[in-house]
Amino acid sequence: MAFHSVLVIGGSGFIGSHIIAKLALTDWRAIVPTRHFDHAKDLLLVPSMDDVIEADVHDEATLDRLVPGNTAVINLVGILHDPTARSGEAYGREFARAHVDLPRKIVAACARHGVQHYLHMSALGADKNAPSMYLRSKADGEEAALSNPAVGVTIFRPSVVFGERDHFLNLFASLAKRFPVLPVAAADAKFQPVYVEDVAQAFVHALNEKTTIGKIYELAGPTVYTLRELVKLAGAFSGHPRPVFGLPPVLARLEAALLEHMSAQPLMSRDNLDSMKVDNVATTSMKNTLGIEPTALEEVAPAYLHGDRPHEHVATMHVRAPR
Ligand SMILES: NC(=O)c1ccc[n+]([C@@H]2O[C@H](COP(=O)([O-])OP(=O)(O)OC[C@H]3O[C@@H](n4cnc5c(N)ncnc54)[C@H](OP(=O)(O)O)[C@@H]3O)[C@@H](O)[C@H]2O)c1
Repeated sequence: MAFHSVLVIGGSGFIGSHIIAKLALTDWRAIVPTRHFDHAKDLLLVPSMDDVIEADVHDEATLDRLVPGNTAVINLVGILHDPTARSGEAYGREFARAHVDLPRKIVAACARHGVQHYLHMSALGADKNAPSMYLRSKADGEEAALSNPAVGVTIFRPSVVFGERDHFLNLFASLAKRFPVLPVAAADAKFQPVYVEDVAQAFVHALNEKTTIGKIYELAGPTVYTLRELVKLAGAFSGHPRPVFGLPPVLARLEAALLEHMSAQPLMSRDNLDSMKVDNVATTSMKNTLGIEPTALEEVAPAYLHGDRPHEHVATMHVRAPR
């Protein structure tokens, strides 16, 4: 079988490792650059992996080495926090570097080396006028992705993503394990969580289907939940059902400000709170746009949150046949 090569920038993370596992059933083979080879080297055990390369993807000369020879490039790099923003700025320099400058550099490298398909990960709610720096920078990132007409671009906007090793339900499950009650900021904010395998399937579909070029796909699950409902479900599914109460906005902001000062990767930042001022709900369905029937959270989350089966290692991840 002749293989196509795809460079998966940011491929060592939660969503990337699921996309790479899914590629094992296809004629695509992945190359993943990483800032820390040791963190990502387990990916080499996945059958679809060609190589893991320690590299600084922000360096244009490095992109000129990584990009040539690939049929497509996927970019999954994203950060949630940026403490550098000054008042009056749309966002700080770290959001600008990761979400805007990087896609611009990647598509420029694709254009220089004749790579015609760039798959860009954005976020549901990306908007230049969004209330948070994260979402404003994601909107400018989409514009940067589309900055070179020589490169065909497919953009994905997921709501919050759940699945084995997610950063969201697992966090609430671990808090439920430790604390008897759970105070929640922005408890009434709405989300439409999407299963990571469905997100991975959307990327694999786009790699194989050139009609996805020039399109923006919202990725969302079958059900809209409030954050309060999701925190309750995470506790219940993990075997630690807990009362959940909403924090008043002033206390929520104070808590976020304190958490920001305690850690570079806080559990919650004021910008995260700002993101939740708008509902994270899709206007289209994956079933209609991509032919993917979205998986219900209740169908899969209890198994991986309850810990009643061994935590899947990335190399042995269950690879489901494309649907
Ligand atoms: N997870 C969600 O619920 C969700 C929802 C909406 C949108 N998204 C978007 O989906 C994408 C992937 O999300 P994820 O949850 O898989 O994230 P993740 O687990 O944090 O993985 C992102 C990867 O990007 C690389 N990376 C992070 N910061 C970087 C930087 N400054 N420069 C270069 N590389 C960097 C890291 O790789 P190395 O450490 O190996 O270099 C990391 O493994 C992101 O763009 C995110 O904004 C995610």
